[in-house]
Amino acid sequence: MTDLYERLRRTAGVLAARTGCERHDVCVVLGSGLGSYPDRIGDKVAVSYRDLPGFPIPTAVGHAGTAYSTQMGGNRVLMLSGRAHAYEGHDTGAITFAVRTAITAGCRVVVLTNAAGACGDGMAAGDLAVITDHVNLAGISPLAGPNDERLGPRFTDMTDVYTPELQAKAHAAAARLGQTLREGVYFWFQGPMFETPAEIRMAMALGGSMVGMSTVPEATAARHMGAQVLGISLCTNLAAGMSDQPLSHTEVIETAAAASERFSALFDELLPTL
Ligand code: HPA
Repeated sequence: MTDLYERLRRTAGVLAARTGCERHDVCVVLGSGLGSYPDRIGDKVAVSYRDLPGFPIPTAVGHAGTAYSTQMGGNRVLMLSGRAHAYEGHDTGAITFAVRTAITAGCRVVVLTNAAGACGDGMAAGDLAVITDHVNLAGISPLAGPNDERLGPRFTDMTDVYTPELQAKAHAAAARLGQTLREGVYFWFQGPMFETPAEIRMAMALGGSMVGMSTVPEATAARHMGAQVLGISLCTNLAAGMSDQPLSHTEVIETAAAASERFSALFDELLPTL
């Protein structure tokens, strides 16, 4: 098998041919229940993940498996509707392949969205929150194994994984819309089971505000390749043990759907500015 660098270049070439766009500027990964955002965009080109060699086909409900290319202001935006997770049995190479392809295709900014459980002070279901930093509790890294210097350095600096200027742009966009946008540290649990109440108490004690099953591997791979990252969580539920409700993926999808207008308005406002 050819090496990762060559496979990325090949798939970026297919993407360019299929979209008719030599380069993209901004990549947006749409999380659980947020994948319908491209529906409201008229002028776009859709490419199935099946036509993009190496893209994993997502199995999680709410994750379609389509890439969309569209123009937003001065940015050519690549939206990835459908992501692969570690809990589906994918290795970290597969999970990060789409984002690495987007960066190979020119993207200098990667926007990672997710559905998350809320455990931060005063946070509630329906809140949108900027990710300020993360903690990797899954204990796996997409950077483990031999390093290819053409992609990035052996030891990646994780000081500002989530670029402060991009966080400021997200807050500015929300302010222009009169929207409340929270912020906090995202804790990555591998899943697929939701966390236990004890795990949530631990995350809270360690300064966590959001918990979820994605985002961290893609953010790590993007920083490895030198792209800037913005993370936005949609809190779909109070985390385990914080309410008397049991957790369910149905609730996650329903709350995400209910918040989709707010999410879409924020992204319409924000994406052209990145
Ligand atoms: N935990 C982990 N992942 C999630 C949650 C949660 O409570 N809600 C949505 N995704």
